[in-house]
Amino acid sequence: MKILITGGAGFIGSTIASACLDAGHLPVVVDDLSTGVLPFVAGRVFYCGDIADPALLRRVLAEHPDIAATVHCAAHIVVPESVADPLRYYRNNVAKTVDLLQSLTDGGCRRVLFSSSASIYGRTADFGVDEDCPLEPASPYARTKAMMEQVLADTAATGRVAALSLRYFNPIGADPRLRTGLQIRRPSHALGRLLDAARDGTAFTITGTDWPTRDGSGLRDYIHVWDLARAHVRALERFDVVVPSGYRALNVGTGTGTTVRELVAAFEQVTGAGLPVREGPPRPGDVAGAYARVGRAQQALGWRAELSITDGIRDALAWLEVRDAVLGAGG
Ligand SMILES: NC(=O)c1ccc[n+]([C@@H]2O[C@H](COP(=O)([O-])OP(=O)(O)OC[C@H]3O[C@@H](n4cnc5c(N)ncnc54)[C@H](O)[C@@H]3O)[C@@H](O)[C@H]2O)c1
Repeated sequence: MKILITGGAGFIGSTIASACLDAGHLPVVVDDLSTGVLPFVAGRVFYCGDIADPALLRRVLAEHPDIAATVHCAAHIVVPESVADPLRYYRNNVAKTVDLLQSLTDGGCRRVLFSSSASIYGRTADFGVDEDCPLEPASPYARTKAMMEQVLADTAATGRVAALSLRYFNPIGADPRLRTGLQIRRPSHALGRLLDAARDGTAFTITGTDWPTRDGSGLRDYIHVWDLARAHVRALERFDVVVPSGYRALNVGTGTGTTVRELVAAFEQVTGAGLPVREGPPRPGDVAGAYARVGRAQQALGWRAELSITDGIRDALAWLEVRDAVLGAGG
């Protein structure tokens, strides 16, 4: 199968492209390299440009009329940034995705798999969420994802697309073969900041210690990015069974919640070294968090997460060892 991957030069899109290649499918990447990097598309079919450029999309679809489905990963993704500059986020994640959908429907490309996010869910008593839980996105970033799900559902209702939103929980780790990993040098999520603190010899700050979780720190469902990528391959291979028409959303997580304090303990276990920890207030847009109820994804996709948090931490550390060489000195 040939698969169009928007944002395929970024962290998750490039890992999905690798998983597609390993499964015998051919990724065609469109990315404007705003946060993505060229080394992640080296040797791959790649078009540099904006998802909202209709001429570019026409060219891609003309040169690859056999594209079977689109995996739409391209987006801006930093929650505090979206609080500070919401218009930039609504423009890129919503308006430009509408333009992309127009190009895809004009080109007769009707299967769409959308990178959605667990951040659209509201809080539940035990932090577990299934796909029917109410959506209460708490930041402009999360609202862009919830809005796009609505746009996809409305468009799918016309029959012009069949759309599947995969609601990612918290991806960690790297491609186990280390072809790609997190390209951002100062990631804002907890594992990224743990890696920074360990490398710089500074304290790790737990941002938010008064959440109503078992130890007061935020709770997340950390899923290895390779498991996440494998879920996409399954979804693509089963697309017409999972979404014969219309619209569907599935949680992609491990089914287990881990607090930030527990993540710190797992990190210390993997590295074998203690890490000084400070406590601070939550950042703008932060939420207590959630873990995925994953029964539907398991049933629909015949998939389950197989890698552990320890695997994710280990692969993230291994990626750091090779990252600068892969990205090049200027990366
Ligand atoms: N990383 C996470 O924790 C997480 C969690 C849930 C959902 N997601 C979703 O997964 C997707 C991928 O995230 P990621 O972590 O790989 O981020 P990333 O920044 O590494 O990747 C996004 C890619 O999209 C590209 N892009 C952005 N706007 C574009 C545009 N207008 N035209 C063309 N390319 C454009 C960027 O250059 C980048 O390569 C996003 O949609 C994000 O919302 C990520």
